Amino acid sequence: MAGKSASYRCTGCGHSALTWTGQCAGCGAWNTLEQASAPPARSGNRGRARAGSAPKPVPLRDVKAERSKRLGTGIAELDRVLGGGLVPGSLVLLGGAPGIGKSTLAGMALANIAEAGHDVLYVSGEESAAQVRRRAERLGEAALSVPMLAEPSLESVLAALEAERPSACVIDSVQTLAVPDMAPGSVGAIREATSALLETAKRLDVTLILIGHVTKEGSLAGPRALEHLVDCVLHFEGERERTFRTVRALKNRFGATSEVGVFEMKQGGLVEVVDPSARFVGEARPAPGSVVLCAMEGTRPLLVEVQALVAPTEIVPPRRTATGVDRNRLALVLAVLTRHAGISLAAADVFVNVAGGVRIDEPGADLAIAMAVASAHSGRALETDGKPLACFGEIGLTGEIRYVSHADRRVAEARKFGLGKVLGPPGGDQAIPGLAPVSSVKAAVSGGRRTDLKRVA
Ligand code: TYD
Ligand code: MG
Repeated sequence: MAGKSASYRCTGCGHSALTWTGQCAGCGAWNTLEQASAPPARSGNRGRARAGSAPKPVPLRDVKAERSKRLGTGIAELDRVLGGGLVPGSLVLLGGAPGIGKSTLAGMALANIAEAGHDVLYVSGEESAAQVRRRAERLGEAALSVPMLAEPSLESVLAALEAERPSACVIDSVQTLAVPDMAPGSVGAIREATSALLETAKRLDVTLILIGHVTKEGSLAGPRALEHLVDCVLHFEGERERTFRTVRALKNRFGATSEVGVFEMKQGGLVEVVDPSARFVGEARPAPGSVVLCAMEGTRPLLVEVQALVAPTEIVPPRRTATGVDRNRLALVLAVLTRHAGISLAAADVFVNVAGGVRIDEPGADLAIAMAVASAHSGRALETDGKPLACFGEIGLTGEIRYVSHADRRVAEARKFGLGKVLGPPGGDQAIPGLAPVSSVKAAVSGGRRTDLKRVA
């Protein structure tokens, strides 16, 4: 018996309780508490080490830190997001909605790693061996040589890792691993499985890629129970109807979290989009409500088209829909437009969309949102020499345009695509050729002329 320590445990979330209750205080599920069969033996007397047995701290300079060689996945966009490939012995969580291409990406990476001469293993609890084979057939010859195991039990996966000792192993997916005495797919089971895999992988120096489904709310594996356990959390996203997919790191112990890899789903698997700007603004034409945003995704400048639609409505409160940009930033930009640029949108629905199905997550998008909305509102296309207007910059609460990093690289990218004039924040040390500085939202939307935008009372 567990004695004084918690003796009931939720089979759903792993929450421990001293007494039995009908509803779990941890996850709110009913009738999931079960008597714990064994006392939790792990923590021991941690934190109460007796005097005399205290370990001696070591100066960091004397700590051994060998720089291990990275394991390249052969997919440049993925390696860049990882910070230069997989770190041997690390644990990577690859999350994304069903059907986005997680198994495809992981399968391609394993095939490349195997081709480079390393041992690999693909564990599928999700699909049958035949289904995995059919996917591999589409991916090519190398994918067919990846050893696979259709094995949904945690114990046998651990045994297989011990026996095979691969350099890299994919678990597809962590939610489908069966853990003894736990409801399959429950947070408790996922956590248990991940800790066990983590221990084995670190000991055997196996690089593990865990695939996890995101829930409707967008979090990985229900509550973000796994994120602190793993070294790297990658999120695979994009709209299923569109072909573009992006991979970004939400957490990375071995690299930056700002990098984004762009892919396109094609017949033969995922294809890297090496020049995403060309894809995203290739279709952009000057039209009311359309501007080009010069964004930065990590170390790479990226041009995307931001579109807005402003339509009169009787609905109270009016609709504000943002796809690809943060809803809160849209609310802020609309408030600034109303307060500082005299554009009232109280009786209008506002839709803002980043074309191509990409998501832009940086403050530099503010000005593009403002310009697109102002242009949609006035019905006047913003163009320079027959090309759509390009812009970037953060908007402050007083209506000022604020500095954002890498102004020169943003402008250079726009010029590469023949977008001659770029509206952006003033400041910086020297004038950037092609940059037209604007200091306030009001000046930006009035194009310096002040007369164009009608005021709506
Ligand atoms: P999949 O990797 O199975 O997604 P996930 O593991 O995230 O659920 O693949 C998703 C979709 O991609 C699937 O609907 C089929 C499509 N697909 C292609 O278009 N081309 C291909 O070469 C492959 C392998 C898949
Ligand atoms: Mg899958």
